[in-house]
Amino acid sequence: MKLNFQRALVTGGAGFIGSHLVEALIENKCDVVVLDNLSSGNPSNLLPFKDRITFKEGDIRDRDMLSKAACGCDAVFHLAAVVSVPQTVEEPVDSAMVNDIGTLFVLEAARTLNIKRVVLSSSCAVYGDDPELPKNESMNVKPLSPYGVQKLNGEHYARIYCDLYGVKTACLRYFNVFGPRQDPSSPYSGVISIFMTKSINAETPVIFGDGNQSRDFVFVKDVVRANLLAANNDRAAGLVFNVGTGRSMTINELWRLTSGLSGFHGEPTHLDSRPGDIYASLGDTRRAESDLGFKAEYDFEQGLALTFQWYKNTMTPEGHL
Ligand code: NAD
Ligand code: UD1
Repeated sequence: MKLNFQRALVTGGAGFIGSHLVEALIENKCDVVVLDNLSSGNPSNLLPFKDRITFKEGDIRDRDMLSKAACGCDAVFHLAAVVSVPQTVEEPVDSAMVNDIGTLFVLEAARTLNIKRVVLSSSCAVYGDDPELPKNESMNVKPLSPYGVQKLNGEHYARIYCDLYGVKTACLRYFNVFGPRQDPSSPYSGVISIFMTKSINAETPVIFGDGNQSRDFVFVKDVVRANLLAANNDRAAGLVFNVGTGRSMTINELWRLTSGLSGFHGEPTHLDSRPGDIYASLGDTRRAESDLGFKAEYDFEQGLALTFQWYKNTMTPEGHL
């Protein structure tokens, strides 16, 4: 893809999605600066291309550091965040310092440094549990968790930075992203990364609730492409877009498919649902398709098989990544 910008800052670039984005930016001949405090990211995610980027270990809340990292960039992809819904339920204030104030700092750095393109990583968690499915961008939003509120605040700030200051902001409401490099090591980690490692280690997983809650799982390479398309398209300015597949899957089905790949068919333990957990999630993808020309290309089974292979090849015999 021919990019309309030459140098990009990726906050959270040592993380799961960020590192795939960095890789794609380099492939598309862009200079990349990564700012990451390594709270949930890992430098090993950047290892294969570490000599081709500028990596700065630091926090988006350190405004001086942020300014230095952003200086000379003509696009910012803002991914740094406390990404776990339950973690924000436990730490509503600390997480807001990163997800609310940190996001505001990023937008403000773009304004003061005259950086015209910013893409924010938002979330379908802004929708909450309205029974209407699929979720479309014109619906009322009612987040159920501090995380959802924080992501929604970021979207509001992004819109006014576009309207008031002319920063071309676009917000992408990712549905549930999965793929290689998603860190499974915390109890807060994404469900697919946990199920992958459990199944390879022949350990039974935990399912919170009845397991009939559903998610629209989107493969990480598709999410990366949505970011590039949004940054490259002036029509995206001031808008929000769903980034999903338009297909959903229950957590019970997910375990069944994962078991099929690994050959381990352990019976999951069911615990209570997590507070703030959304029951059904499915994205209406038409706006991204019509305005950005984005449609997810990986089907779920294909993405799951690629992801499984990656965990299988990368895990040590002791079961660590
Ligand atoms: P991740 O945890 O792998 O990446 C987040 C990165 O941000 C990490 O590298 C972490 O070290 C860094 N970071 C956190 N706080 C920071 C701070 N204060 N300063 C600098 N760096 C900091 O998670 P991910 O899944 O790659 O998520 C990337 C973005 O996408 C996040 O904004 C997340 O909210 C959003 N998102 C993710 C999903 C998903 O399913 N994974 C869905 C919707 C939205
Ligand atoms: C995830 C993302 C969040 C994003 C949101 C968009 C992570 C860590 N969180 O949150 O950043 O904005 O998608 O929808 O990537 N579950 C189990 N067993 C487990 C783990 C999870 O049953 O071991 C269940 C959860 O209770 C939930 C579902 O699986 O119902 C998905 O959980 P999770 O992967 O943590 O994602 P979300 O909470 O949807």
